[in-house]
Amino acid sequence: MTTIDNSMTGKVVLVTGATNGIGRVTAMALAQMGATVVVHGRSQEKAEYTVSLIKEETGSNTVDYLLADLASQDEIRAMAAEFKQRYDRLDVLVNNAGAIFLKRKESAEGIEMTFALNHLAYFLLTNLLLDLIIQTGEQYGEARIVNVSSGAHYGPQIVLDDIQSPGIYSGWLAYGQSKLANILFTYELARRLQGTNVTANVLHPGFVASGFAKNNPITRPAMALSSIFALSPEEGAQTSIYLASSDEVKSVTGQYFYKSKARKSSAASYDEEAQHELWKLSKKLTGLTNI
Ligand SMILES: NC(=O)c1ccc[n+]([C@@H]2O[C@H](COP(=O)([O-])OP(=O)(O)OC[C@H]3O[C@@H](n4cnc5c(N)ncnc54)[C@H](OP(=O)(O)O)[C@@H]3O)[C@@H](O)[C@H]2O)c1
Repeated sequence: MTTIDNSMTGKVVLVTGATNGIGRVTAMALAQMGATVVVHGRSQEKAEYTVSLIKEETGSNTVDYLLADLASQDEIRAMAAEFKQRYDRLDVLVNNAGAIFLKRKESAEGIEMTFALNHLAYFLLTNLLLDLIIQTGEQYGEARIVNVSSGAHYGPQIVLDDIQSPGIYSGWLAYGQSKLANILFTYELARRLQGTNVTANVLHPGFVASGFAKNNPITRPAMALSSIFALSPEEGAQTSIYLASSDEVKSVTGQYFYKSKARKSSAASYDEEAQHELWKLSKKLTGLTNI
């Protein structure tokens, strides 16, 4: 067991997809800094295990969990409501949970799964918690939203008319588009948050040997083999941890980071019209009216 360094004591952090990989290391590190950490998971067993692991490793008593399948908007709504029941502040939201699907699948609402899980879940959860995040920023001077994207966003354009991939489906293309959507969303969100004490940034963790792409029998062996060249989850989580906690980025917003440095994202990601149109479509698909 290591000792808590107290730099985030008093802060409340929610990390989605914290039961594995990059999210788990991020949650662990923030607990290590003294934050109250809410682990999001979809399996009770894995969430309970993660909470006990973090408590054991860090000595923290302020680790909690919430459950939701993020491919269900009802479950996201229930989780956001439960979070607000339990906590009166949210200093850092890390939207991290994501996956790739080589075969086309649909979410509970009948939306193409990659877009629903990797983008719409970030969009819906953030907007449901945004009043609390803004209030936290006002009361305590700052609050942060950190979105985990990917270098896979370079290349694809966002084709909003084809977001449901009704024609030929490509898992990698759908993944790349969803990760581009993370960046378009972050830039639009950061603009909308101007004048508040809330920042929104987005990142690429690097190629990381995690549970990623192991949900598929075709990609599983390739991922296992290529993991020799990959970063460990501890290395891959560094940029998430940096954006969630470092004073250096306290006032930085609307930026894309890799290796804890602001970088240029793809040309397509800076298209303000696409950012705006994605926001409109996401609002429609999640039924949010008050944003
Ligand atoms: N690994 C890489 O090389 C890489 C590169 C670039 C970007 N990324 C991004 O990094 C983020 C984290 O991925 P990772 O590499 O840490 O992968 P991972 O080890 O597979 O972890 C993904 C996390 O997301 C959760 N999750 C997946 N589907 C979910 C659903 N329907 N509802 C709720 N939770 C769900 C998983 O829960 P379970 O534990 O229950 O499965 C797990 O906690 C993702 O956004 C990914 O796109 C990864």
